[in-house]
Amino acid sequence: MAFTPRVFSGIKPSGDLHLGNYLGAIRRFVPLQDTHQTIYCVVDMHAITVWQEPEDLRRWTYEIAAAYIAAGLDPKRSIIFNQSQVVEHAELSWIFNCVARMGWMSRMTQFKDKAGENSEQVSLGLFAYPSLMAADILLYKATGVPVGEDQKQHLELTRDIAKKFNHDFRKQIKAFGHDEEFFPLTETLATGPAMRVKSLRDGTKKMSKSDASDMSTIYMMDDADMISKKIKKATTDPEALPTEAAGLAGRAEAENLVQIYAALADLSVADVLKEYGGSGWGRFKPALADLAVAVLAPVATEMRRLVGDPGEMDAILRDGAERARAIAQPVMDDVRKIVGFVR
Ligand code: TYM
Repeated sequence: MAFTPRVFSGIKPSGDLHLGNYLGAIRRFVPLQDTHQTIYCVVDMHAITVWQEPEDLRRWTYEIAAAYIAAGLDPKRSIIFNQSQVVEHAELSWIFNCVARMGWMSRMTQFKDKAGENSEQVSLGLFAYPSLMAADILLYKATGVPVGEDQKQHLELTRDIAKKFNHDFRKQIKAFGHDEEFFPLTETLATGPAMRVKSLRDGTKKMSKSDASDMSTIYMMDDADMISKKIKKATTDPEALPTEAAGLAGRAEAENLVQIYAALADLSVADVLKEYGGSGWGRFKPALADLAVAVLAPVATEMRRLVGDPGEMDAILRDGAERARAIAQPVMDDVRKIVGFVR
């Protein structure tokens, strides 16, 4: 039996949403509604792997759910919910903690970056984070996960966990009448421009929720003036734009701005350079600023409207959680049997 084409993705409510989240994830969630069953989660249990003020956590949870809808997700077609409302995520992640190996987790570059010198002091949850992420995805037997480039290693680990579970329990999986592959080997959907949006001040760093310099990050809730100002002040080199993509090699800041333009306009980098190759920043930056404002301002307006109506947001999240549980519970029932838990 083939797996249902099903997409799952999630965003952590641990800071204000930014252009990287929009281009690397949210914007690409929308067209998948036409081809897949789509499940989009606000992963609040992931957020608390580092300290979150409870009030901020709540506010950001609403903000992300609002961004999903404002960007074009239809809560009737897509399942939109927050992770902690479906307890099966926690249950499956515990089982995966017992499948995954310490060595696999120790190799996760995001853990190493986040823990830094301080690895004795970070939470146990931060270390186990990728196993919860695998549970998010495999609880729904998702076949595809749209994410930015920084999540690729976690998706590889998800496949490793699925493979090991399928292998370790193959006898039980067969005995219970399943195909040999109980969990799918989920595909990472991360192609196209702007899969790794960089800081506007430093082309060696990714744009992130936690950058100390506000000028480096375009936030989804920035107003038009702020967006324009940040783009016009973005660090660049003195050269004109090249006429072909190869000419962007070694020019991280230039490449970043061209990729952002391409992603916002739904064009390829080559097409953008056909139009702007040979131009200086005096022409390109204002065009990029106008484009960014035209795309982002309506999303921000709708986000503000939605977060101003927590009653509506609660209803959407509750309905989404109920539909998510309807998929998750039968999978968990099977997993408990396969593992040997008596019920
Ligand atoms: P998070 O919350 O850090 O980021 C959410 C999404 O935004 C993408 N992203 C970027 N894309 C391009 N350029 C950037 N500068 C940039 N910054 C962030 C991320 O790649 C991601 O797609 N572990 C995940 C959340 C998660 C998840 C999941 C994702 C938990 N469970 C299951 C997919 C499936 C995270 O921390 O994303």
